[in-house]
Amino acid sequence: MPNPRPSHTSLPPGIDPGHVPVHVACVMDGNGRWASSRGLPRTEGHAAGEEALLDTVEGALDLGIRWLTMFAFSTENWRRPAEEVRYLMEFNESLLVHRRDELNEKGVRIRFSGRRDWRVPRRVLRRMDESIALTRGNRRMTLTMAFNYGGRAEIVDAVRSLVSDGVQPADVTEKAIRSRTYHPDQPDPDLVVRTSGEFRISNFLLWQIAYSELVFTDVLWPDFRRQHLFDAVAEYQRRERRYGGVRG
Ligand code: IPE
Ligand code: IPE
Ligand code: MG
Repeated sequence: MPNPRPSHTSLPPGIDPGHVPVHVACVMDGNGRWASSRGLPRTEGHAAGEEALLDTVEGALDLGIRWLTMFAFSTENWRRPAEEVRYLMEFNESLLVHRRDELNEKGVRIRFSGRRDWRVPRRVLRRMDESIALTRGNRRMTLTMAFNYGGRAEIVDAVRSLVSDGVQPADVTEKAIRSRTYHPDQPDPDLVVRTSGEFRISNFLLWQIAYSELVFTDVLWPDFRRQHLFDAVAEYQRRERRYGGVRG
């Protein structure tokens, strides 16, 4: 897929312009620990993550990354204390209200990945729909917020859709499953970045990350800035992707 870069941006040193990942996905983790280490409530860590998110989007635009997917709330995060869940719902809603015009002006198309089930407050769904509608025509970059997202839930939803359409066993192919994922037009992530020193996937994009390169960093999400993204991309560029084949 062509990956044109706006000519007014210059790439940071150490990044090969011919080899920028098309799709980068991030697990934004460590907000709670960031706050606790400062004697603050966990929710302050989520609030501090807003700047990290916006700076990362800017960095991705600088690099010419076309698809950026950010894990904001998992299907398992409902297990958290009700007060924290309520905070996260309101936080994500207000983040959209604050930031969508700015993102729209930058040419970012906003989308969401996840279940729109009864647990997501109607007001949040409305803001999501408004943000999608506002930015629908943008093509510089697609920012997908994975919200009430679970990789297993996505696969279950894809299988349900195949079964309910009466797809025959012989027609259940990888292509057919992909076509029923939440965003079949989205290329698989080339690079997945997880912050906060945890070495796990936590149910993120299970189908799509089959051959993604994984980069883990100890930086806690609220401290993450575009330079950390550049470092992760430089690390990605040192990897050799073989897809089960042999060295080319
Ligand atoms: C990531 O930070 C944000 C969400 C999962 C919503 P955490 O809240 O998981 O922070 P830690 O991992 O407890 O430090
Ligand atoms: C993954 O982080 C989910 C998001 C970043 C939204 P978690 O903090 O929920 O993951 P675990 O519980 O440490 O695996
Ligand atoms: Mg966490």
